[in-house]
Amino acid sequence: MNITVVGSGKVGASAALNSCLRKLGDVLLLDIVKGLPQGEALDINHQLSEIGIDCRVKGSNEYEDLKGSDIIVLVAGVGRKPGMTRMDLLTTNANIIKEIATKIRSLASRAIVIVVTNPVDPMTYLTLKLLGTDKNRVMGMGNMLDLSRFKSFIHETTGFSRGSISAMVIGEHGENMLPLPRFSSISGIPLITFLSPDQVMTALESTRKIAAEVISLKGATIHAPGNAIAAMIESIVRNRKSLIPVSALLEGEYGASDVCLGVPAILGANGIEKIVELKLDSSEREIFDKGVRSVKTAITELHM
Ligand code: NAI
Repeated sequence: MNITVVGSGKVGASAALNSCLRKLGDVLLLDIVKGLPQGEALDINHQLSEIGIDCRVKGSNEYEDLKGSDIIVLVAGVGRKPGMTRMDLLTTNANIIKEIATKIRSLASRAIVIVVTNPVDPMTYLTLKLLGTDKNRVMGMGNMLDLSRFKSFIHETTGFSRGSISAMVIGEHGENMLPLPRFSSISGIPLITFLSPDQVMTALESTRKIAAEVISLKGATIHAPGNAIAAMIESIVRNRKSLIPVSALLEGEYGASDVCLGVPAILGANGIEKIVELKLDSSEREIFDKGVRSVKTAITELHM
């Protein structure tokens, strides 16, 4: 399997490393900065040599090398600085996505594309429209990362094993993200059995805010996004049919259309193989719909 990561910065390098640690295929790191992808490739290969993993990692500054990619991770672009929201990156990153999508369209039009660049929901929509490919072949990574954070809070609050925690977060990867305690459990036993309403509320609020805290502490989020990307790639490469929330084009699902937003989906060899619809209650629906409106406004601002 040929995996290409476009953007070899902090998250791109972490995605490449995590993909190799899961033995998902050979990885090409692409970037416009001379030397950066080559240096990252050397560094990762050295780690793999010690562990005994035979995936090959290569660095390049040539878009031509996109040819033959089966999966492309699009993670080029600027990240937010302390105090910024993801939406503040809209125009700058849209221009970067436009440039790269043109290359993907001409060199690797059948690749499955995982968009990571923020704000990820409008960027996923933009990529899908520019590529003109099937809607199941383009998805955004955002809620999978939100999910890791929600699980982390549940673990800290209950003290229970991380392995027994199952959780769900959907909606906009941004100000209107929607962690779903009703669809979260400890080994199948509803979360509310173990957490008081106040503790649930704190976990929800913390999940929404924690990325900003990481950014203010260390400048960027790196390891958890890299792992979330690799988990999505793994389900596709191994055709595992894992249920993972991804940003997907909605055409009536969840009462929304012509917008990309995070929803639970089955990921397999064909990319998004099924969107799973959950029955939201009125307060969940309100937040989900706010996310739809927010992403639609951003899409309008892109003047496509
Ligand atoms: P970074 O600044 O470390 O890396 C970005 C890389 O993109 C740089 O190396 C830059 O040279 C490269 N780049 C810029 N234009 C390019 C082009 N036209 N072609 C190829 N490469 C190009 O940033 P970092 O921290 O890796 O974040 C990257 C993006 O991912 C940001 O937009 C950030 O907000 C987003 N992100 C999204 C997450 C999510 O859950 N969806 C989680 C974490 C980050």
